[in-house]
Amino acid sequence: MKQEENILEPVFDAIKTGWRHRPPIKLGKYQLVKDHRIAAMILDTVDALELTNKAGLKPVMVKDIATDYGARIIFHLPAGISRKEVENKLQYLEEQAQGQIFLTNKGNVLTMDIYTAELPKIAAYRYQKTDLYLPLFLGVDYRNEVLIKDLAKFPHMLVAGQTGGGKSTFLHILIAGLLEKNMEKNNINIAIIDLKKLEFFYLNEHCLIVDDERDAARLLSYLNRELDRRLIILRDAKCRNITEYKGGDMPFIVLIIDELAELDSKDGQEDLNRLARLSRAAGIHLVLATQRPCSTLFKDFTKTRALLPARVCFSVADDVNSRIVLGSDAADKIPKNIPGRAVFKWEGEEIIQAMYMGVKECEENLLKIPKLKGVMYYKQCPKRLRAR
Ligand SMILES: Nc1ncnc2c1ncn2[C@@H]1O[C@H](COP(=O)(O)OP(=O)(O)OP(=O)(O)O)[C@@H](O)[C@H]1O
Ligand SMILES: [Mg+2]
Repeated sequence: MKQEENILEPVFDAIKTGWRHRPPIKLGKYQLVKDHRIAAMILDTVDALELTNKAGLKPVMVKDIATDYGARIIFHLPAGISRKEVENKLQYLEEQAQGQIFLTNKGNVLTMDIYTAELPKIAAYRYQKTDLYLPLFLGVDYRNEVLIKDLAKFPHMLVAGQTGGGKSTFLHILIAGLLEKNMEKNNINIAIIDLKKLEFFYLNEHCLIVDDERDAARLLSYLNRELDRRLIILRDAKCRNITEYKGGDMPFIVLIIDELAELDSKDGQEDLNRLARLSRAAGIHLVLATQRPCSTLFKDFTKTRALLPARVCFSVADDVNSRIVLGSDAADKIPKNIPGRAVFKWEGEEIIQAMYMGVKECEENLLKIPKLKGVMYYKQCPKRLRAR
């Protein structure tokens, strides 16, 4: 995969240049989009990705159809291009298009769906059944489909953005989704560190919540001991990770921290870093939210941040902050006046509208979810930390 990225680097550059310099193009009867980026993208699919066969033949555009969501363009691929090559390149292009272009390939037909409509300004929370271990309901995409990703795969996620961007709301939605998923197998535990104290207490019969600094440090220390305990059990059972382990009680643990900057204690920070480094195999996963994603947050935060490969970035003050979170200026470009609008970055960048539930709805939604008896139920968990 690494090598793939190197090969595609020049293509990436070509596309970016194209976005900046190409005028809008006309395709068929109508001008597809005023957005240069998309128009250029269409041409660049053909040019820059070099889907050219040995004889030098390129894909040919055979049809363009206006749709209610934007447009569909059909290409015919020349013979002699491997399916794998096409797939790799399509995926790459989709990623560069930040969720506005979707490509499918069947035989020699390449279908490009272009979504030109705006994302909704508000998208109500909706749960969907899924086989993922730890489904995160991230938001809706340009197709108005719910984007769901598996936290167990990431294995940790950073949530950033300036005040009012929608970080806490996003966490409420993630928690709601995980709790609903948990109704299937009862194998997900959620621990929340909420040092601002006011956001999450309604969840105290479903999650373990700590809201002061000392308890936060205790919880982090406990999770490290739990990690060690699990690693020994897994080793003895010859399992490489929790999903291979079939014995006894070993639920996933998701630790959510809203406002990481409040976590002052040095021990707490070290414990957190250790979890980020080692906890994946043991089924302990982190979602860390902060207004201040930079290294002044705490001494080793830069190191910890590097261990959180999935990122969600709501609006930020400037491109510098966006780069700190995403490595690109994408979050500086999203509208600053739409709370919930965010860039999700994992393998590529995708713009999403996070789903929304008001506090009251969050509480109502909880009514259908059974209270957890003894969350962080282990005997090892300090008594004062155990959930009600
Ligand atoms: N996904 C969303 N859709 C619509 N509105 C939203 C969404 N997320 C947040 N909002 C609105 O923006 C307000 C602020 O959101 P939120 O408290 O989640 O921001 P925050 O990033 O946590 O801010 P802070 O850093 O100050 O804690 C919410 O009260 C809500 O009115
Ligand atoms: Mg908040």
